[in-house]
Order: sequence, then structure tokens, then C-alpha cells
Amino acid sequence: MDYNFKGILFALTVTLCGLGPSWAAIDKEGNGKPPDRTIDLSNKKLFTEGRKIFRFDSFGSEAFWGDQLRIHDAIKGQKNGGVGPGVSPKVALSVGLKVDISKLDRLMIEAIREGTADLDDPNTTLALLKANAVVGLKGVFKGKNLTSVGVTCALCHSTVDNSLAPGLGQRLDGWPNRDLNIGAIVNLAPNKAPIANVLGVSEETVSQVLTSWGPGRYDAVLLMDGKAFRPDGKTGATVIPAAFGLAGVNLHTYNGWGSVSYWNAYVAVTQMHGQGTFFDPRLNDPVKYPVAVRNNFWNVRSKKDLVSSKLPALHHYQLAIPAPSPSKTSYDGEMAKRGKVVFEGKAKCITCHVPPTYSEPGHNMHTAQELGIDDFQAKRSPDEGYRTTPLKGLFTRLKGGFYHDGRFPTYRSVVDHYDQVRKLSLSEDEKVDLTEYLKSF
Ligand code: HEC
Ligand code: HEC
Repeated sequence: MDYNFKGILFALTVTLCGLGPSWAAIDKEGNGKPPDRTIDLSNKKLFTEGRKIFRFDSFGSEAFWGDQLRIHDAIKGQKNGGVGPGVSPKVALSVGLKVDISKLDRLMIEAIREGTADLDDPNTTLALLKANAVVGLKGVFKGKNLTSVGVTCALCHSTVDNSLAPGLGQRLDGWPNRDLNIGAIVNLAPNKAPIANVLGVSEETVSQVLTSWGPGRYDAVLLMDGKAFRPDGKTGATVIPAAFGLAGVNLHTYNGWGSVSYWNAYVAVTQMHGQGTFFDPRLNDPVKYPVAVRNNFWNVRSKKDLVSSKLPALHHYQLAIPAPSPSKTSYDGEMAKRGKVVFEGKAKCITCHVPPTYSEPGHNMHTAQELGIDDFQAKRSPDEGYRTTPLKGLFTRLKGGFYHDGRFPTYRSVVDHYDQVRKLSLSEDEKVDLTEYLKSF
């Protein structure tokens, strides 16, 4: 067998298995050796490392969420040396936190299944945290005492498959957690002064802003421009996007702030408040980004850097997470087939949503005008446009709505919008078929 042929076989195997945790199969094909000497199998190591960082690394953010905001005191409650009633598993699940059951022992799973676990007791939450089973929250313990808490990427960009009970199951990395009420969780903090000081407002105002977000939303630009609300009074927070299906996509985030690595540094350092390095002179603009300039958020150099060394593996992992496919029973296959013809033909969706990423090769940005929407969110970003969202795994983003602010609550409302603003003159049958096709992404 010549090397080229083996190379093709390898490429096929990768495609068939869908990048991701398919190395076992590849190892089998190549008898434990790289099938092609040009392929660097250390990527397996990068993948595993990246996944670990994505799920469990808090980048030293305990210094903010724990030491400063004291969220751990609110979680454990007064009875355990904290403050208030504490956070029971019921409350935690009600604000959209998820439990990874692969971290639980058999006894705990049986107790939950049989309904004998006390889900009203904050001590159960502490046990879950100690088992490292609360997705995206990392508890620091001294013995049984919760002394701090940090956050990981998985908090917002993972959910679970609900296989044990609603909110409890196996992890689904990259899926946006559209149940997560981040505002409500941060609002638990006994001390909101650090956020108030950064924004230059009262703690009461901070509380009001956090309350305005609602489930599945977060405002990743507030700490730069201080704009909490749109001119129409609605929240400036966007819906959490997917962190899968991103390989081959040029610019990331709804407004194309930069590459995956750019954004990872941005988020880890300026949003999660991890300790690291972040530099972007575009944000050194006192008119557009007054909060960033006042607090030097455009040029952060922590004494210890717990972020930069993790960016390569984190980058690799995100690009390797494949977009999930919807169940075949969730849409009508025949109609979807006809809808594909509409998508690629009369509706011209394919001019911007180009397969296989269904974003655009190149500078994947458009103006608000082209999309027929307002430019509030676009104007908050350096490039002042909207990035063509990759469409794969669209069904995971139905809850909370489509577009950056979730303004379209259904597949059909997106189709109606395009039909109107792009004057597509689609017939009712074409709209129905196109809607069905969107469900199949
Ligand atoms: C508190 C919730 C939260 C946390 C924690 C968080 N993100 Fe995000 N992430 C968001 C939101 C909201 C956006 C959309 C921001 C925007 O477009 O303005 C986003 C955008 C992204 C994007 C762009 C997706 C796309 O469509 O191109 C990536 C990639 C990403 N985050 C990865 C990460 C990684 C990696 C981490 C950990 C270092 C992380 N995020 C931590 C909420 C979060
Ligand atoms: C001019 C380029 C362009 C065309 C043409 C276009 N789109 Fe889009 N599409 C975008 C951009 C940019 C966004 C992101 C908008 C936002 O988030 O505010 C988007 C977002 C979407 C979303 C939401 C994805 C999500 O996760 O929120 C869907 C669904 C969608 N488009 C479907 C379609 C369909 C169906 C058509 C054809 C009728 C179409 N698009 C035509 C550029 C385009």
C-alpha cells in the first residue's frame, strides 16, 4: 500500500468518525502507528488536554468568584458557615446548572433515581461539587468546607443529555446551556461591589442588570462598553452560542471579534476573571469602550499567567467538537429534501451559509442593513457587523431563539424574516419545506 492511499484512508476514517474521540478506530487502522508520517498523532494528546481544560480549568478564577464575590458562601449557606439559606440542588437545577452523572458513585445515582436523595439540602449540592459533578463550577474544599469557587468554559458551553433526570446526565460539550440563568447565579453573590466598581455604578444597579438577562443569556461586552440595555429597553445580553462545528470558520462570535483563540483569551481573562494575558488595542477607545479603558481590560497582564499556555489545546479541542445531528424523527425527511432545494436555489441562503460549515469562507461578516435588523449589537464590536453563524446543530439553539439576541423564537419566523427583507417571494409550500430543512441541520 503506498503512502498516498493510506493518507486517503486516514482522511476517510477521520471524516467517517467525525473528528472527535475517534482515535481508537484510527489506531486500529494504523496498527497503533500513524498511518501517514506527516500526521502528528500528538493531536490525540492535545484533544484530551483541551477537553480537560474546557471542562475543568478555572484559570485561577476563584480569586474573583470566590475570594471577591464570595459565591461559595451563598452556596453553602449560613448553617455551613456561609450566608443565607444555601443553594439546594433543586435551586441549582432551577437556575439551569447541570449535573454530570459520570462523576457520581452508584449509591448517589440510585438515591437520585429512587428519589431518596435530599434535593432540598444545600449539603447535597456540596457533595455534588466535591465530586466535581456540577458542570462548569469548580469547588475548592478544605476537608468538607467549601472555601472558594471558580468557573470553567463548560458552565455556558456544555449541557447534559438528561438521561438520569432533567438536568442530570452525560455531558454534551459545545452545546449552549440555554437554561443557564447566569444573571441569577451571579446575583447570589453576597458581595457585588467588585462588579459595581468596575462598571462605576451601584450594587443595586448591578443586581437590576443581572436580573434583566434571563435564562441562556450573557453579556460578554458589558465590561468593555458598559451598555447594559438596548435603546428599546431590552437587555444587551446575547444568547449563548454553540462551541461546536467551528472548524473552518474564520471569525468567531456573533460580531466577529476574532479567532477562537482570540476569543478564548478574551473570555478567560476579562469575563471569567482568570489570571492571564489579554491584549487588544482596538479596545483602547475611551468613547466606545470606556469601561475597558478605565480598568485597563484591553491590556491585562496578570502576575501569574494560567491561561496562555492552555490556548493551543483549548483551540484544538473546540475545533474538534463535531456539531451534533438532530434525530431523524424530529423532522420530515421528504419535506427537508425539498427545502434543501429552496435553500440552495430560490431563497439564496447558500450565498452566505456555504457548506460544509454553513458560514462563509473568507471575511464572514455582514451589515445590519443586509440582514434587515438593527445594528445595536454590531456597533458594540470592533468590526461593527454580524458574522454569518454556522448552522450545523441548529436544533440545540432553538430554546431561547435564533439570531444573536434570540429574536426569532421559531424556525419559521427566521424563514419569514428572510422572505420579507430579502424579497424572496417564497410560496407557503416553499416556506414550510425550508423550515423543515432548517430542522435537519
Ligand atoms: C458566562 C458564560 C460563558 C462562559 C463561562 C464562556 N463563554 Fe464562550 N460565549 C458566551 C457568550 C454569551 C458568547 C457570545 C458572545 C458574543 O458573540 O458577543 C460566547 C462566545 C463563544 C465563542 C464563539 C462561538 C462562535 O459562534 O463563533 C466561543 C468559541 C466560545 N465562546 C468559547 C468559550 C471558551 C473556550 C470558554 C472558556 C475559556 C468560554 N467560551 C467561556 C458565554 C460564555
Ligand atoms: C447576507 C448573508 C446571509 C444570507 C443570504 C442568509 N443569512 Fe442566515 N445569517 C446571516 C448572518 C450574518 C446571521 C447572524 C445574525 C445574527 O446573529 O444576528 C445569520 C443567522 C441565521 C440563522 C440563526 C442561527 C443561530 O444559531 O442563531 C439562521 C437559522 C439562518 N441564518 C438561516 C438562513 C436562511 C434559511 C437563509 C435563506 C432564507 C439565510 N439564513 C440567508 C447571514 C445570511
